[in-house]
Amino acid sequence: MRIDILSCVPDLLHSPLNHSILKRAQQKKLLEVFVHNLRDYSLDKHKSVDDYPFGGGAGMVLTAPPLAHAINSLCQNILYDEIIFLTPDGETFNQKMANQLSLKQNLLLIAGHYKGIDQRIRDKYITKEISIGDYVLSGGELPALILVDAIGRLIPGVLGDETSALSDSFQNILLDAPCYTRPAIFEGLKVPEILLSGDHQKIEEWRLNQSIEKTQKLRPDLYAEWEKSELS
Ligand code: ADE
Repeated sequence: MRIDILSCVPDLLHSPLNHSILKRAQQKKLLEVFVHNLRDYSLDKHKSVDDYPFGGGAGMVLTAPPLAHAINSLCQNILYDEIIFLTPDGETFNQKMANQLSLKQNLLLIAGHYKGIDQRIRDKYITKEISIGDYVLSGGELPALILVDAIGRLIPGVLGDETSALSDSFQNILLDAPCYTRPAIFEGLKVPEILLSGDHQKIEEWRLNQSIEKTQKLRPDLYAEWEKSELS
C-alpha cells in the first residue's frame, strides 16, 4: 500500500513515520509513505501557500493553486483510491473506516493548516473528508498520522503476530480485556490466577467475559451495538 501526505509543515510528520511499527512496515515494503511539502508546489516566487480569507475574518486559508498543482502532479503518476482531506467537519474516523481504507492501494492525505483550505479544492478534488474527533487541532498533520498508524497496522504482515490486530479493542466492537505481564505479584497485587493456569480455552473465555463486562461498564453505547450484532 502507498500513502502520500501533502502538508505545508512536513517536518511535523517525519518522526512518527520513522519509528516502531510504521518504520517496520516500510522496511518490510508492506507500506510506502511519501511526505510532500506543499511549498514545493507554490507557483509564486515567495513560495507562499496561504492568504487572507475573502470576506474577512481571523486566520489564513491555504490557497487553491499550490494545492491543485500538487494534487494534479501526484495524480499524473498514481491512481488514488481516495483523496482524503483531514478536517473537523469530516466523518468521524473509527475502526470500520480504518479497516476499509486498509484494503486500498493508494491514498492521498491532505493536511490543512491555519483556518482551512480553499473550498474549491474540497469541491473539485477531495473524495472523502475525515475528522479524528470533535475538537479542533492546529492542522491535519497529527490526524493524518493517526490514519496512517491505524491503517498501516492492519496491513497483513505488518504486525509480528498476524492475529493481534484482529483482537484489538473495537475490532469485534468490544473493548480489550485487561492484560498483565511479569512480575506475577506487583506491590502485593496478583495477576488473575486463570492467566497462569495454561488452560487456553478457559483463558479465552475469561478474556471474553472481561471484555463484555468492561464494555458494558465503560462504553454502554458499544455494548448495545455488540448485543445487536451477530458477534454476541
Ligand atoms: N484538523 C484540525 N482538527 C482536526 C480534526 N479534529 N480532525 C481532522 N483534522 C483536523
